[in-house]
Amino acid sequence: MHPLSLFSYHQPDLIEAIKTALLAKPGGCIVTGMPYSDDDEALKSLSYQLGEPLLEPHNLRGGMVCRVEVESREDRPYASTSQHFPGHTDCVDYAEPPDTVLLLCERPAISGGESFAAHLDDFLPLLSAEEIFALNKTDFYFRYGYLPILTLQQSKVAIRYNRIMLDLFQPDHNPEREALLDRLDDAIQSVSFRFSLQQGECLILNNHTTVHGRTAFVDNQSNQTQGRLLKRSRLSLQV
Ligand SMILES: [Fe+2]
Repeated sequence: MHPLSLFSYHQPDLIEAIKTALLAKPGGCIVTGMPYSDDDEALKSLSYQLGEPLLEPHNLRGGMVCRVEVESREDRPYASTSQHFPGHTDCVDYAEPPDTVLLLCERPAISGGESFAAHLDDFLPLLSAEEIFALNKTDFYFRYGYLPILTLQQSKVAIRYNRIMLDLFQPDHNPEREALLDRLDDAIQSVSFRFSLQQGECLILNNHTTVHGRTAFVDNQSNQTQGRLLKRSRLSLQV
């Protein structure tokens, strides 16, 4: 059994319940029975009630909703492939990554595609003080510049982390740094909890405290319109 709270889309205190869940361990929840439609009305409405949605050019109509599905032209093992996507936070190369991510499942994969997540209060204690100190240094190249993986924000620790992106964009090969990231990956993996998102379930996560990922999956190759499909929005939570 995973530790995420389950809330009904129709419960009257939904917004407050989500906000409370985001700010405590494990940093998220699942909303069940959520409507989904081509115009994404429910996802948009929920996003607006929670905070300020991020509008991104690659989203549908440049708005707040992104289709997360297998794209044949994508070869990097990010969200738009069926390959294993290790524990990460979203938007790691943004100056200020959004603090909240919503993922609404419209069609699960035929098999695989299990989600997992881990809160930093669970995996950071598995690292030494020296390793935490090293992760707090501005030593990691996130595509547009050097940034730390761990930071202190309003007296709370926050994480930005995506091993795939870090490995792709580091301008140099540094065995010490790679060993440090291996230890972070091991710590994340050892405390990760797993769950399967069903149709109409919306995963909502704190993108500053909780890393997430998913296992590899098998999609319906014969029919592109029947493959795994999630709709995603990202936002700054209004607390
Ligand atoms: Fe993600």
